[in-house]
Amino acid sequence: MPRIILESKEGAHTIECSEGEALLDAILDAGHIYPHGCRAGSCGACRTLIIEGGDDIPAPGIIENITIEGLVKQGNIAIPPGAKLRLACRVNVTKDIKIKAFY
Ligand code: FES
Repeated sequence: MPRIILESKEGAHTIECSEGEALLDAILDAGHIYPHGCRAGSCGACRTLIIEGGDDIPAPGIIENITIEGLVKQGNIAIPPGAKLRLACRVNVTKDIKIKAFY
């Protein structure tokens, strides 16, 4: 059962999820509030930094890529070295992962 370590300004939380579960669903199902909207990769509200793990997660699809490029072009997202910007609604968790929220 993969574990998600969620870091935010409110602290760090560990969440267990089902293998293959969408990252956003796992966070919400665990009772956490997390920014989201469309759940389809187009609004960008669920932007998330993957800071450890996630090497097994497939690359973003076309819609997620377009949304991420738009977020980066807006310019107010700092992506630390080694981290990946992804959308929590489009990432399925298969192994332990550490993420950082933008709240
Ligand atoms: S909820 Fe809209 S991009 Fe994830």
